[in-house]
Amino acid sequence: MDNKMEKIISLAKRRGFIFPSSEIYGGIGATYDYGPLGVELKNNIKKLWWKMFVQGRDDMVGMDAAIIMHPKVWEASGHLKNFSDPLVDCKSCKRRFRADHLLEARAAEPGYDKEKPVDWKKIKCPDCGGELTEVRNFNLMFKTFMGPLEDSNSVVYLRPETAGGMFVNFKNVLDTSRMKLPFGLGQIGKAFRNEITTENFIFRTREFEQMEVEYFINPKDWKEKFEMWLGVMKEWCKALGLKDKNLVYHEIDDSDRAFYSKRTIDIEYQYPFGQKELYGLAYRTDYDLTQHQQFSGQDLSYTDPVTKEKYIPHIIEPSLGVDRSVLACLLEAYEEIDGGRSTTTEANKEVETVLRLPKELAPIKVAVLPLSKKENLTKVAEEVYADLRKYWNTDYDETSSIGRRYRRQDEIGTPYCVTVDFESLEDKAVTVRDRDTMAQERVKIGELVGYLRERLGC
Ligand code: GAP
Repeated sequence: MDNKMEKIISLAKRRGFIFPSSEIYGGIGATYDYGPLGVELKNNIKKLWWKMFVQGRDDMVGMDAAIIMHPKVWEASGHLKNFSDPLVDCKSCKRRFRADHLLEARAAEPGYDKEKPVDWKKIKCPDCGGELTEVRNFNLMFKTFMGPLEDSNSVVYLRPETAGGMFVNFKNVLDTSRMKLPFGLGQIGKAFRNEITTENFIFRTREFEQMEVEYFINPKDWKEKFEMWLGVMKEWCKALGLKDKNLVYHEIDDSDRAFYSKRTIDIEYQYPFGQKELYGLAYRTDYDLTQHQQFSGQDLSYTDPVTKEKYIPHIIEPSLGVDRSVLACLLEAYEEIDGGRSTTTEANKEVETVLRLPKELAPIKVAVLPLSKKENLTKVAEEVYADLRKYWNTDYDETSSIGRRYRRQDEIGTPYCVTVDFESLEDKAVTVRDRDTMAQERVKIGELVGYLRERLGC
């Protein structure tokens, strides 16, 4: 695995961002648990998304649908029939691959012709060179049973995307709120896909979270609204701290797009393991509501209150993965400084890690560090800590040297460290140190909250 990915995985484990799930039982393939710092980072990402995509807009409202829905939802959406990946097995080593991923790898070879039919006999196992089986389609939805009977009438599915819950609630929201088209629903929640291959830490897992918008429009407006959401997604990437040079806006060809979509852009990120999808933006036409109208027998049309025009709303869908956002944020923020940037001699000798997360996303916003464990100092430090905790997730650390403690906070992205020293007892002030510039400023304790609020912006 790439060195940077190894470092991120190691930092995530060591500092309590992300652990392999059920680790004491040997783990369960490609499933991860977010630890104390990881859950803060993830929650901050979701909070920011909710603010930018839902609460901050007058054309959006939020919702939270059930994970287990009526199985007809997935029949109508086409998931039962088509939500599958092509699968091949190696006859020798028994490893399983996604056929399309093997083809992608071949596309880079000289003389590759996309138009030529694939002769699967000529494609060998990338691991052992063994012969591969025929391509079979494998449905990615997790199945379970609702209620005590395990028969075909009680089969239900864990949702493979959050979108379905919003399509089927379009009419409910329209009837119970004062929303008029164009308007959208936003939702954050878990989705499940029984992926054939999981890969690259939290990039592709079987249980993950999505943040999706279903934006209902009059078809005549689709081009304008598509551009509008593309703009919002660009702003979002900027807010996560992702640099333009690491992002690719990939216009999906007619031949590769879902048949109902008239335009799709995949927002791809330059991960250490290659350029791959981060998010998607799709114009889904009237496919979703037409299908659900047909399968449910309910009228899902919209009548414009002014023009009286009646139509099935079309949909623009910005779809974002929470876990891929976490991964991209960590990769982008991670910086190693060889030899260190601290002036303390012991720290100087080592590689120093700084996680330059946007302040709004940092799991811990402030750390309070008394210079010594002497009671008169810790008393003041504890008072400062108790005060700051009312406003931000704050850490308190009185162990080891001050240089070490700064570095521990830098490594997890804490934007500000507040040092309480012996002078604090006299001048009722503390030293505030900035993670990025390492600049230190003396601030009166009584003015500390205002000082930090101005700089944290939250
Ligand atoms: N409703 C449309 C939809 O679900 P998608 O491209 O299949 O579209 C949207 O998924 C986003 O969800 C992706 O761009 C990615 O960020 C995230 N995602 C999809 N599958 C994932 C997986 N197996 N593991 C982690 N994130 C995933």
